[in-house]
Amino acid sequence: MSTVIRNGTIVTADLTYKADVLIEDGRIAQIGQGLGGDDEIDATGCYVMPGGIDPHTHLEMPFMGTYSADNFDSGTQAALAGGTTMVVDFALPDPGQGLLDAIKRWDNKSAQAHCDYSFHMAITWWGEQVFDEMAQVVRERGINTFKHFMAYKGALMVNDDEMFASFRRCAELGAIPLVHAENGDVVADLQRKLMDEGNTGPEGHAYSRPPQVEGEATNRAIMIADMAGVPLYVVHVSCEESHEAIRRAKQAGKRVWGEPLIQHLLLDEGEYFNHDWDHSARRVMSPPFRNKQHQDSLWAGLASGTLSVVATDHCAFTTDQKRYGVGDFTKIPNGTGGLEDRLPLLWTYGVATGRLTPNEFVAATSTNIAKILNIYPRKGAVLVGADADLVVWDPEKEKTITAGGQVSAIDYNVFEGIAVKGLPRFTLSRGRVVVNDGKLQSTPGAGRFVKRPPNQSVHTALSTWKGLTAPRKVERTGIPASGV
Ligand code: URP
Ligand code: ZN
Ligand code: ZN
Ligand code: ZN
Repeated sequence: MSTVIRNGTIVTADLTYKADVLIEDGRIAQIGQGLGGDDEIDATGCYVMPGGIDPHTHLEMPFMGTYSADNFDSGTQAALAGGTTMVVDFALPDPGQGLLDAIKRWDNKSAQAHCDYSFHMAITWWGEQVFDEMAQVVRERGINTFKHFMAYKGALMVNDDEMFASFRRCAELGAIPLVHAENGDVVADLQRKLMDEGNTGPEGHAYSRPPQVEGEATNRAIMIADMAGVPLYVVHVSCEESHEAIRRAKQAGKRVWGEPLIQHLLLDEGEYFNHDWDHSARRVMSPPFRNKQHQDSLWAGLASGTLSVVATDHCAFTTDQKRYGVGDFTKIPNGTGGLEDRLPLLWTYGVATGRLTPNEFVAATSTNIAKILNIYPRKGAVLVGADADLVVWDPEKEKTITAGGQVSAIDYNVFEGIAVKGLPRFTLSRGRVVVNDGKLQSTPGAGRFVKRPPNQSVHTALSTWKGLTAPRKVERTGIPASGV
């Protein structure tokens, strides 16, 4: 069976042109004019783009005494509904648990995935077992990224010595470290102070995580990565302080990428001052939403290329779950949703406003991360041989985002009431039409794990340079006798 997408305009990270796309056996078989196939998809008036890749999701995540409400079943359907055809989740070992055991748990969770997926491996503690298993994680399981939480003290947080050891191991293995950059010690102290002062509401969450805690941790992670000789990926960059550190590092030749979230691009700190407790608590996530100046900085970073990827950090909790934190903001489960809305929102508020070109949109939502994760051009491309993970994007299709109309399992949407223009007409997952004019027709279990080999090209370049410039012993001829 073959399928041809006809009459559309292909938009990739670097080109825009009219052509048909022929799909056979789940892959792109031909791109050209006047192609025919067994099935035909009409893309008149539409853009044909690589499906979105969301490199930052937490589906059924055990966190803060509960589990995030969207699992791989509902979460990946939400992804497909919004034109995202691959997600990368985080396998989180419990304290003392081996990495391979943790991956097994994520293998079980992900059996219901409707789209292709992969995992980042989190380093949540440090020891010989972790050091040893990192090699198997990379070589046998095809996972080339390791996440480090610099916050969540007493839970997921790792200290600098652990981070440096892990980063060095990443360098040896051709893997890339990721960081959640917030100074967890300072956050814990500010939380205690705010609670002592009676500042117990959700706004306390924002007060306890000012931009400085993020800027400091981002700088620290960048310097530690540089000393370990490894590239660095900074997740959920929310503020100018963190963006500035990344910009400066890039200018100095360091290999660092920054990932803003669609939430931080569009929602601001005013959400935490709403008089409705539920409204504010539903928007509690780390880092918190910032003011308009920070948002402008993030948009500028996407346009200039100092920030590389737009993700969601989709970690959805119901209102009932958020209410665990009534009377104590430190107990509100941290996280917000966005999987279904990332592409339409970025198109509406990025491309339609002229902040981004359509090609930059594709780069930020798909191609850049495919390259960073070393799965390009299998993913993130419209090229012969690539997986046919595609979105047929209708720039005229409109809707207003509502909780009632969403696929996600939770009872609200942080983007409630926002109008978007630009939505999928069709979404294809390895050639199968899984969204047809807004209607989902995907299958649980159809998604496959995507292995990601180590030694991405930037990694190889950096390790070559670090090898050439490493400290060397000075060979001396005249060595004086010991002065004793
Ligand atoms: O608040 C957030 N971001 N929750 C998910 C876990 C994380 O820090 O990414
Ligand atoms: Zn995080
Ligand atoms: Zn409200
Ligand atoms: Zn996250």
